[in-house]
Amino acid sequence: MPLLLPVSDQSIASAASLLRQGKLVAFPTETVYGLGADATNGQAVAAIYAAKGRPSFNPLIIHVDRAEALDELVEWNDTARQLASAFWPGPMTLVLPRKQGSSVSLLASAGLDTLAVRIPSHPDALRLLHAVRLPIAAPSANASGKLSPTTPQHVAESLGENVDLILEGGRSPLGIESTVIDLTNAEPVILRPGGLTREQLEDALGYKVNVGRAPCEKAPTSPGMLASHYAPTLPLRLNAEFPEPHEAYLGFGVYRADSDAFLNLSEEANLNEAAANLFAMLRTLDKPEFTGIAVAPIPETGLGVAINDRLRRAAADRNQDDSG
Ligand code: TXA
Ligand code: MG
Repeated sequence: MPLLLPVSDQSIASAASLLRQGKLVAFPTETVYGLGADATNGQAVAAIYAAKGRPSFNPLIIHVDRAEALDELVEWNDTARQLASAFWPGPMTLVLPRKQGSSVSLLASAGLDTLAVRIPSHPDALRLLHAVRLPIAAPSANASGKLSPTTPQHVAESLGENVDLILEGGRSPLGIESTVIDLTNAEPVILRPGGLTREQLEDALGYKVNVGRAPCEKAPTSPGMLASHYAPTLPLRLNAEFPEPHEAYLGFGVYRADSDAFLNLSEEANLNEAAANLFAMLRTLDKPEFTGIAVAPIPETGLGVAINDRLRRAAADRNQDDSG
């Protein structure tokens, strides 16, 4: 059984300290329980994907306790400010352009140039976020493919020992996830219906809002449907033991990365570390001076499944420009 503690000054302090050490803490929000990790720590974010057993990297929601904490993470716009003052704290997630130099790990947004952010209204969530003073990445605290948890017991049953601490704050009052709204284009689009209704949103904005689809809410039927995911410009060559001349090389395990053209996801062959480095290193190598990026074989176990899934999609995207 994982450790469960009722919310108190002491358990909040322990939870904040665990989060600062890169551990995973499940906590109540008004929508569902979240599985939290320090969003600025790539290895802690990788541990979220490992704990959930996610077969691919879905972008995660970043939680903070006040709007000013977002100034360094995302680019605000007028609609975002309007919706933030109308509905935060509350069951609304805004997708905004990621700010240059944002401290949030690229793995948390699955390599995207955007970031989903939210201020939850649950008093225990706010207490924790206030105590930790870090942006917290938190998907719903359930194993991949299972129902979102609305009680601490659901979390314990679903994640077991994979979570370091579960804060007990009773039943999540809404029981349905936040509404995800994409504000990165001229018109807002609802990517995932949720606790904030379309009517509430339209009343506040004074106009109709379209409904789209979040990149990973349903299993994509073709790699082209992940068009909003980051894919390198250069072609990828997977399971490559060595680079060809003029190729960049992304190694894994015993391999000396000794020039600008070579990077190593993890010299210790640690899949957690490799996941944390994946998107940032692909970006670093994605330069016009190379003909392509060769990637070392990655074992198909644990987080390796999600890493290989992402690499295969990135490789396939190259050949499927018009697949929709
Ligand atoms: O109510 C909630 O939102 C809960 C609590 C814990 O806050 N969290 C939650 O997280 O439901 P998760 O990971 O289960 O769902 C995140 C949703 C997915 O639909 C994902 O595709 C979308 O947010 N999302 C995250 N980042 C995105 C981005 N940069 N662009 C578009 N969609 C994004
Ligand atoms: Mg979920």
